[in-house]
Amino acid sequence: MKNLAAVVLAAGKGTRMKSEKPKVLHIVAGKPMLFFPVNLLKNSGAGKIVLVVGFGSEAVVEAFKDYGLSFVTQEEQLGTGHAVSCALKELRDFTGDVLVLSGDVPLIREETVKALLDLHRKGAKAKAAISLVTTVVENPKGYGRIVRDADGEIIRIVEEKDCSPLQRKIQEVNTGIYLFSASFLHANIKKLGKENAQGEYYLPDLVHLAVGEGLRVDSISTLDATEVMGVNNRVELAIAGEHMRARINEALMVSGVTIIDPRATYVDFGVAVGVDTVIYPGVRLTGATVIGAKCVIEEGSVITSSKVGDGSAIKSYSVIEDSEVGKENAIGPFARLRPKTILADKVRIGNFVEVKKSSLGKGSKANHLTYLGDSVIGEGVNIGAGTITCNYDGTNKSVTTIEDGAFIGSDSQLIAPVTVGKGAYVGSGTTVTKNVPAGSLVITRAPEKVIEGWAGRKFKGKGKEKE
Ligand code: UD1
Ligand code: CA
Repeated sequence: MKNLAAVVLAAGKGTRMKSEKPKVLHIVAGKPMLFFPVNLLKNSGAGKIVLVVGFGSEAVVEAFKDYGLSFVTQEEQLGTGHAVSCALKELRDFTGDVLVLSGDVPLIREETVKALLDLHRKGAKAKAAISLVTTVVENPKGYGRIVRDADGEIIRIVEEKDCSPLQRKIQEVNTGIYLFSASFLHANIKKLGKENAQGEYYLPDLVHLAVGEGLRVDSISTLDATEVMGVNNRVELAIAGEHMRARINEALMVSGVTIIDPRATYVDFGVAVGVDTVIYPGVRLTGATVIGAKCVIEEGSVITSSKVGDGSAIKSYSVIEDSEVGKENAIGPFARLRPKTILADKVRIGNFVEVKKSSLGKGSKANHLTYLGDSVIGEGVNIGAGTITCNYDGTNKSVTTIEDGAFIGSDSQLIAPVTVGKGAYVGSGTTVTKNVPAGSLVITRAPEKVIEGWAGRKFKGKGKEKE
């Protein structure tokens, strides 16, 4: 949309967050809260998107450098009106409509912005200088109040701190979502004053200014007040997270995913889950995770930036990070897949098994108490309990290769670099230091000694004989 530009305000420190981090980088459902308005604007087809940064600007710019935004720095945070006037430097020749959003309103929906655009553009009345979104809330504390005249027309917005006792009772509030005609902004932004309780240039004062000049101010009201809630402290951060997760979970359930207890299921924005997958409580799915169809993800499992193929079961309390799990795998309970683990189909990784930067071929199994690091494991391999790939010699990491059909007996150590050939056997308790040829058996085991009656003699006179 060529005649639509957008400004996102994100320069404030967010004093009420009590944080060293800029407020807009605090996380909601796995993303910095600023991601949500930015993402919405990208989808709404705004031509130019100007992001006003200030407090912690380096961190904000770094986090959003790949989004095709124009950054403007507001050196001193002199108010939302001042922030928009800084942004206008980037929109000097722009003559269309300017959508203004706050970086701290993550729950805003595309439909609401679309309705605002429709109101502003297709309204039967003369074109408004300002169109804005209001909402009615039970507790309006902290928000700018919408003051209307006897005909119901908006005449001004009064900030909480500037309210008379009567105005403070008004429950219709400013959501901070506005659409301005660029020409109105260019002509009036410098007229804002700062004679108010906070000594700031207030963007909402433009409403009073427009009305004074006999220009139209239109509004729509959204019924879903949660959508426009601003996040100003950590309590609101938690509430926003709760709403965002509820939305994500609802969308998944509607698309065919079973979530046993949505309130206790933490799926971050951007995660995909296939149909007929069942997710148990206490599961966290984060990053660019993609779960296939017909999977079961049991309680307490945490899956980060990983792929899980169709029909796989991730059993209780398993942790998977930056890995790929094939189809029909069974992982856990209590398994840990560290980055760069790649499992083919029908692999079995059991309890207390840690896998790192390793691949396992089709049908291979490591069922108990094992560490597999920097290893390349073929198909149909059986790894016995307590196997350890000794991949680190204190300086270098080396690779262990285990070829198709090999059998590694329990409690074996494989000192990398080493290869166990196709179909070879490693006897239990073996320390493998040399390559094992295909089809052979390797075994290192100290000869076994049985000394009869030893215990009785050792404990003679110490009260243990009876046992
Ligand atoms: C603002 C509105 C209020 C509205 C509420 C809705 C003003 C004066 N008040 O209040 O009417 O009900 O939003 O959420 O606009 N920012 C800058 N530079 C500044 C100051 C703020 O970029 O100099 C940014 C902040 O980072 C934030 C946004 O503007 O993303 C809103 O500022 P904030 O201080 O949170 O305003 P509110 O008090 O919430
Ligand atoms: Ca705010």
